[in-house]
Amino acid sequence: MDTTKTVLIAGGSGLIGKQLTKMLKERGYSVYKLSRNAGKQGYIQWDPKMKTVDEKHLDRIHILINLAGANIGDKNWTSARKKELIDSRVQSTAFLSEIAAKMPKLTYYIGASGVNCYDISQQKVFQETDHYGTDFLSTLVRDWETASDRFQGICPYMKLRIAMVLSNAGGSLNAMKGPIKFGLGSPLGTGNQYHPWIHVDDLCRMVLFGIDQKLEGTYNAVAHCDTNRTMMKGIAKYMHRPFFLPAVPSGILKFILGERSMLVLSDLRVSNDKIKNAGFEFKFEPLNKALKALFSK
Ligand SMILES: NC(=O)c1ccc[n+]([C@@H]2O[C@H](COP(=O)([O-])OP(=O)(O)OC[C@H]3O[C@@H](n4cnc5c(N)ncnc54)[C@H](OP(=O)(O)O)[C@@H]3O)[C@@H](O)[C@H]2O)c1
Repeated sequence: MDTTKTVLIAGGSGLIGKQLTKMLKERGYSVYKLSRNAGKQGYIQWDPKMKTVDEKHLDRIHILINLAGANIGDKNWTSARKKELIDSRVQSTAFLSEIAAKMPKLTYYIGASGVNCYDISQQKVFQETDHYGTDFLSTLVRDWETASDRFQGICPYMKLRIAMVLSNAGGSLNAMKGPIKFGLGSPLGTGNQYHPWIHVDDLCRMVLFGIDQKLEGTYNAVAHCDTNRTMMKGIAKYMHRPFFLPAVPSGILKFILGERSMLVLSDLRVSNDKIKNAGFEFKFEPLNKALKALFSK
């Protein structure tokens, strides 16, 4: 491997980007982050909405990784927020494909997308070849991936359909820990719905694997799928907190979270056969192993 390569991560200031930066640097890569709030060393300023970018350093970039996007779980999905969730991904990705012209050394692109893109009305374990669903997130992912396809003819590229990322630096695990910390741990909805998940280090290892193998196409980034009950109970165990309360009814979650409740209520099982068949080995699965690693830090 050429360890002198330079990577640019759009949205590199976020949960995944921070850990990925660390792991890329450990592997000898030089890393820049594309941010709307640059200023610190190693950051490059851009404004994907206004289509502006500081062109300094772009001629050094060999690998471009796109993690940019307004946070899906943070706020209620009003129509204005939905527009922001879409634009911050689709327009940003399209703009990245335009500024790729200013990266003469660019040899590889990885675009993030999400695993919540399948037609969950079907009861099956979804493969990458299955159709998109028709709900808001599915169409968002479809349009986001279509924007990534603009890299066709620019360089080889991979699209990663990322599952719920488990990290002790924030994100979904933090949200699940919230009620458990106060002794209020319980399943959400029936608790029987499956959530695909991945440990943040495995996700970053998958990015490194993609770079090493120059993988092309779409891959589910999923270590395993477990029920909500299993996940909540497992987290409570590692937090040494009780887990006996009855499940929170779906209706209450729908009332509080609105359409966003699908993030916790939808029942989705997704296959990781494709990436395993490409030779990738997960380090943090099953769930117990991932949680043990996360809670031992
Ligand atoms: N974490 C998960 O569980 C998960 C699961 C599936 C998919 N993904 C996807 O993977 C990507 C990275 O996830 P993450 O958890 O690291 O996200 P994150 O912590 O929310 O960070 C995303 C980054 O995107 C940039 N961003 C935010 N709003 C933006 C906007 N309106 N326009 C352009 N850029 C914006 C921000 O960078 P600046 O403020 O520096 O510009 C931010 O640091 C996201 O696209 C996310 O949808 C994540």
